[in-house]
Amino acid sequence: MSQIGQPNSPIKPPQHVAIIMDGNGRWAKKRGLPRLAGHKAGTENLRRIISASVEFGVQYLTIYAFSTENWGRPRDEVDGLMRIVEDVIEKELNELDEQGVQLRHLGKLDQLSLNLQKKVLAAVDRTRNNSRLVLNIAFNYGGRDEIIHAIRQILVDGIKPEDVSPELVSHYLYTAGIPDPDLIIRTSGELRISNFLIWQGAYSEWYVTPTYWPDFGKNELRKALDEYANRDRRYGKVDSSEYEGSHV
Ligand code: IPE
Ligand code: IPE
Ligand code: MG
Repeated sequence: MSQIGQPNSPIKPPQHVAIIMDGNGRWAKKRGLPRLAGHKAGTENLRRIISASVEFGVQYLTIYAFSTENWGRPRDEVDGLMRIVEDVIEKELNELDEQGVQLRHLGKLDQLSLNLQKKVLAAVDRTRNNSRLVLNIAFNYGGRDEIIHAIRQILVDGIKPEDVSPELVSHYLYTAGIPDPDLIIRTSGELRISNFLIWQGAYSEWYVTPTYWPDFGKNELRKALDEYANRDRRYGKVDSSEYEGSHV
């Protein structure tokens, strides 16, 4: 069977892939390393997955990098994670820009250091006209926080109750203008959503692998996309061929 990313592949990749990049800590522990070494290895892997996503023709890639609940981790780990994002923006921005990647941030900026806020805003601004891949970085992101933020804004704008629709709510989310994820991947085997895209993921397909995030390479991504290509998305309806067959 043809595979995504293979020459002459007729398979269409999902338009929007979202990833819960989990398992950095366990990856490090298995090697007797500190958790932050796992986060660094995870960042290296992210570079591979961004390039592979561009190569496979994915148009939107959303990555869960830091949740609103991750503030509850030990101070050292939180500080280390903040430093890693700053570093990544500094070191990778040129290459991302050259690859045609448009960066977007999902989440609340104001709890981050002023320096990090400035770097995020500058990176978003610099890449705003790129269109090869939209990379949404969910950082200080939580689905419940996002919905509360949207409700508050809807109230501030004086929207009438009868005008509240799924489209309107979507428009008030951090992901406004971005199609819902077709495929959500979670590494490291956990079977939970952990406050990620709880509105947008209503009809996403799921792919969970036991592989820890730093080891989730290009071939694993291809496998996930190939599996997605064989899924039957019904959105609560019945398969049209089945319907015709049973209908007299
Ligand atoms: C995911 O890896 C990265 C972040 C949440 C920042 P973890 O740090 O959650 O790794 P595990 O789940 O402890 O192995
Ligand atoms: C989800 O992973 C958050 C990120 C990957 C950034 P967690 O490791 O924080 O989730 P739980 O605690 O296992 O649910
Ligand atoms: Mg985890």
